Amino acid sequence: MKTEHAPTIQRADYRPLAWTVESIDLHFKLDPDATLVTSRMVCARNPAAVDEGPILLWGEALERISLKVDDAALPAEAVREADGVLQIDAAGERAVVEVVTRIDPRANTTLSGLYLSNGGFFTQCEAEGFRRITYFPDRPDVMARYTVTLEADRAECPVLLSNGNLLEQGELPGGRHFAKWEDPFPKPSYLFALVAAKLVALERTVTTASGREVLLQVWVEEGNLDRSEHAMDSLIHSMRWDEETFGLELDLDRFMIVAVGDFNMGAMENKGLNIFNTKFILAKPDTATDVDYENVESVVAHEYFHNWTGNRVTCRDWFQLTLKEGLTVFRDQQFSADMLARVAGEAAGPAGAASARAVKRIDDVRVLRAAQFAEDGGPMAHPIRPDSYQEINNFYTATVYEKGAEVIRMLHTLLGPEGFRNGMDLYFSYHDGQAVTCDDFVEALSEANGVDLDQFMRWYEQAGTPRVSARGEWDAATGSYTLTLAQRTPPTPGQPEKQPLVIPVAVGLIGPDGRDRALRLEGESQAGAGTRVLALTEAEQRFRFTGLDAEPVPSLLRGFSAPVILELDEDDARLAFRMAHDADPFNRWDAAQRYAERVILGLAGGQAGAVPEAFIAAFRALLNNPALDPAFRAQAASLPTESYLLERMAPADPAALRAALVLTMRTLGGVLAEHWLRLVESMHVPGPYRYHPADAGRRALGNLALRYLAAAGDARGLAAASARYAAATNMTERFGALAALVQSASPAREPALAAFHERYRGDALVLDKWFALQAGAWRWDDAAAPTLARVRALLSDAAFSLSNPNKVYALLGTFFRANAAEFHAADGSGHAFWAEQVIELDRKNPQVAARMARALENWRHYTPALQASIRPQLERVLAAPGLSADVQEIVGKALA
Ligand code: TRP
Ligand code: ZN
Repeated sequence: MKTEHAPTIQRADYRPLAWTVESIDLHFKLDPDATLVTSRMVCARNPAAVDEGPILLWGEALERISLKVDDAALPAEAVREADGVLQIDAAGERAVVEVVTRIDPRANTTLSGLYLSNGGFFTQCEAEGFRRITYFPDRPDVMARYTVTLEADRAECPVLLSNGNLLEQGELPGGRHFAKWEDPFPKPSYLFALVAAKLVALERTVTTASGREVLLQVWVEEGNLDRSEHAMDSLIHSMRWDEETFGLELDLDRFMIVAVGDFNMGAMENKGLNIFNTKFILAKPDTATDVDYENVESVVAHEYFHNWTGNRVTCRDWFQLTLKEGLTVFRDQQFSADMLARVAGEAAGPAGAASARAVKRIDDVRVLRAAQFAEDGGPMAHPIRPDSYQEINNFYTATVYEKGAEVIRMLHTLLGPEGFRNGMDLYFSYHDGQAVTCDDFVEALSEANGVDLDQFMRWYEQAGTPRVSARGEWDAATGSYTLTLAQRTPPTPGQPEKQPLVIPVAVGLIGPDGRDRALRLEGESQAGAGTRVLALTEAEQRFRFTGLDAEPVPSLLRGFSAPVILELDEDDARLAFRMAHDADPFNRWDAAQRYAERVILGLAGGQAGAVPEAFIAAFRALLNNPALDPAFRAQAASLPTESYLLERMAPADPAALRAALVLTMRTLGGVLAEHWLRLVESMHVPGPYRYHPADAGRRALGNLALRYLAAAGDARGLAAASARYAAATNMTERFGALAALVQSASPAREPALAAFHERYRGDALVLDKWFALQAGAWRWDDAAAPTLARVRALLSDAAFSLSNPNKVYALLGTFFRANAAEFHAADGSGHAFWAEQVIELDRKNPQVAARMARALENWRHYTPALQASIRPQLERVLAAPGLSADVQEIVGKALA
């Protein structure tokens, strides 16, 4: 719990420190209630400093036992402590500072710093957790060499790990033991980690591209070894991919991954010692779904890729967070797409590979549209490189990560794969071992390619989702088609005016026969490929295509070539035409989404009373097209997410939207029942489970079919779901069947939930699914109790704990963020519940509380009645005594 009013930190205020740290020797005497930390730092004057000043050491929740400089106690006037910063006056060029602190890991419920989980010790230092371990200049621009000695009870903590290489280990009196580690690479404090716990490791030895043997370990609790192989395979695939794609190799002799059940986020890229939420490591067929397997692969890759983009080259200050996060998300997205395309290409050639890539792209864009577009349209809107913050933990956002990745992707598109690679090579050659800015990155790309990226930098400066509008004019006499593209970014808090951006718009023109035309821009001598990238750089620009035989249908923003909202006036027939013919699989999916959005919002707004026949026909054709693979068809047949649709509604009316979604699901489920039933059978994958994209696609489509049938209350579908539940040989099928039953009016739902609970009692990760499913349940018959009653009851379930972030995200996170109609019940009960839970959570874990608090930040988009219900709850939270800076920032900005 911090100061009364959290101060605002400005990006423009960055100054190098007067003193930095060259090396640090840490000694931990680990004890659950009183851990002693001795730190010896070799401090040196910073050559980059602009002025002289004291040594600054940040500290939080520390008990200071002693402080010495050059082995002598300090005169009182040489040390001051203010606002969590120790200031030490020191003379000369260097000073050895030794500080001893005592900390209480058991009392640390924030999961930042050193904490306990299931009896073991774990750390989380990003962004500012190291200062909760010892006094240190806890900023990413201070890069030091670390040696670390851990001392602990041998029986309680047989495994002692830290960054880098193991130097020595041995016994100590009193049943204790020690281990000493050394990290050869200088690193910022946020990459420090230690683990002391009862764990076992899956091990592999692999040879890197340059021929070095390296040891890979995945550390888990005993009994979970049979769930760690997929993580190990993913790590090995990631290593190979980074060698092949970017020429980047593992730089250590050993690389460790540790899984822990209590963790605020997904995972953390500590140098040589990645620490993961168990959710993103543990997977076996009986407990993990295909989506879980995919997530493990991509998070393992993400953290591994940080070793170069984040660790070897790190951020100068936290405003530059997207430097490492946007780039690393882009890299993990490319990795996953390549992995899918490789397998699909072997089975189905280039078209199969393209479809597989599109499926991954669709997943990523769905997340962007649901989470980032909403963020960009609300009080927390910020550029991918923010200008200010109150609490940095609140800026690990969809904007910094996902939009940040889109910005990197646009650079990749504009420069081409080779140009991008050359830029990356130059970036590493200039900045290896440094803490740098986003400008440094873009400058390296610019220099390597000889292109001016000054205007492009606006993507780093401007918040808000740009709108690109398009108009086409056909001139039959000359066979030419003029496309007028215009851009506009709406104002966001603190940014009333926006400048034009560089927007790559990938364009195709489809002829009446459904085939792409070769494109020739006015003035060009030859026609080129069917898709080309236009650079929209002005507020409005015209592009004239010539040599066309008939009026084309434009297909714009293919592959989602920029993170914008495309405003294109297309009638239903055109959308249906593109659903049937667009050669770009992403846009084919997007045409279906646009059409579905129009239908659903039409129903929600009362402009229509039923799902139109024409939509059903187009939907049916796509669903049954045998030329399209099942994974793609599952994407095409999934409706736009509720959160995205809510953002598109003005004012947002969750109850009306839910009614429209229910009607749409019921109609499609009922009218197409015979098709769905056939899919349930034909998509079934017999035999033992393997994680394979082709099988996963079939299971996804089969499960979707069950969902539609159950929604429609189709008796044969419900019977099929019950049978599939009973006969399932893996979690994807079992949970798919359970989800279908729960999202229906069937009386089978309660017995199925009970059976699932019985089968997996004691399995924390599987029970998270069980909590989430119930918190996300819609009401399919009017007699059903409100979901809130169920959520409240589950709070007292023996397996639930407000101290475990996975449980909070599963139960409360799902209810607040993925069940709008139930959360925003007209009586305001959901809003009062939100305030109550946010206040209680905040006392334990401000980072998690702030994430939950964000569920209401876009409250001004809702109907006046809902706004009137929400406002007093926001005010109630803001007035809570001892509120953290984390929640203060979110709620304060929401009310501003
Ligand atoms: N750097 C981590 C990642 O993106 C994110 C992270 C893990 C994090 N744990 C955290 C950020 C705690 C803030 C607080 O891979
Ligand atoms: Zn990351």
